[in-house]
Order: sequence, then C-alpha cells, then structure tokens
Amino acid sequence: MSLERESATAGHWTEKQYRQAFRSESTARIVLVSEAALPRASGLKSGAGSSILGFLVAQHLAPEWELENLVVAPRARGRGLAKRLLNALLAAAKKTNSTAVFLEVRDSNAAARSLYEKAGFKQVGRRYSYYTSPSEDAILYRRTLD
Ligand SMILES: CC(C)(COP(=O)(O)OP(=O)(O)OC[C@H]1O[C@@H](n2cnc3c(N)ncnc32)[C@H](O)[C@@H]1OP(=O)(O)O)[C@@H](O)C(=O)NCCC(=O)NCCS
Repeated sequence: MSLERESATAGHWTEKQYRQAFRSESTARIVLVSEAALPRASGLKSGAGSSILGFLVAQHLAPEWELENLVVAPRARGRGLAKRLLNALLAAAKKTNSTAVFLEVRDSNAAARSLYEKAGFKQVGRRYSYYTSPSEDAILYRRTLD
C-alpha cells in the first residue's frame, strides 16, 4: 500500500479492498512482486526483510484477465521491472487458456501507455472523464493471447 501511495497514477485501493481481494473465496487473482535481492551476508532468509520494488495485480474474468494495478517504486523505475512483471502476467495468463488481457489507464500516463503498447496492447476504447481527482479519460487497452 505504501508503494501504491507513492504513485499518483497507480490504482488506489483501501486496506479493506486489498484484504478482500486476497480472500480465497474471491475472484482468482495473480499477484506478482519484484523484490530487491538481499546481500548474502545479511543472513536473512529469502523474503525476510526484503524490499518490494514493484507489484502487479490481475484478476481472472474467464476467459480474460484484467490487469488491475501495476506499480514500480520511483527509485527502481527505468530498469525493465514493469516490463518483466507484464511479460510474466502474459505468460501466466496463456497457461490458463485465456483469450486476452485488458486494462484501463489514464489518458496522460505516457510511461504506462508506452509500456503497454510495446507489449502488444491495442487501444480498444475510451471512457470519458472516467477518473476523478483529477478528472480524466480512461483509455482501454486489450492484448489478445495467441
Ligand atoms: C508505468 C511504470 C509501471 C513503468 O515502470 P518501469 O519499471 O519504470 O518500466 P520499465 O523500465 O519496465 O519500462 C518499460 C517500458 O515502459 C515505457 N516507459 C517506462 N518509463 C517511461 C517514461 N518515463 N516515459 C516514457 N515511457 C516509459 C517505455 O516504453 C519502456 O520501454 P523502453 O525501456 O524500451 O523505453 C512506472 O512508471 C510506475 O509505477 N508508474 C506509476 C504507477 C502507474 O502509473 N501504473 C500504471 C497504472 S495503469
């Protein structure tokens, strides 16, 4: 949540929404996390005390997947982490025999739009004034899985 709060253009969920999202009876989701590698000398086991650099959340709405959120920490941007998270989602979605991944993004979010377009997403629609604070159109993207 603290990572997401650092990024104005990320999707913002309340703690309750995150908790509900991860309840076993809720919609199937994939959560992918990028963590900073710990120095061997730290003596910590994998996962303990590590620092999360980014994450992706997607939900399965069979036969498609919706990318709900993707955030990389400001200090870790421009190193290909988002590209790796997105490619991992596409690979995982293919394994579920799904047909497509779709998402929406703020019109002005040039970094994210470039990321999606390079990954083969096509613009399929626009929702006028979909976002608030500030008000802005949402651009809908879809990537078919072949
Ligand atoms: C969008 C975001 C996830 C990109 O993360 P990142 O790890 O820096 O991205 P990558 O290093 O993997 O870059 C992959 C591609 O994204 C695009 N991109 C990333 N940063 C960019 C920038 N500042 N300007 C333009 N394009 C950019 C480029 O196409 C890049 O490909 P390239 O390296 O061949 O130029 C990150 O900026 C972020 O967390 N933003 C705030 C949250 C957000 O807006 N999430 C999207 C919600 S829909």
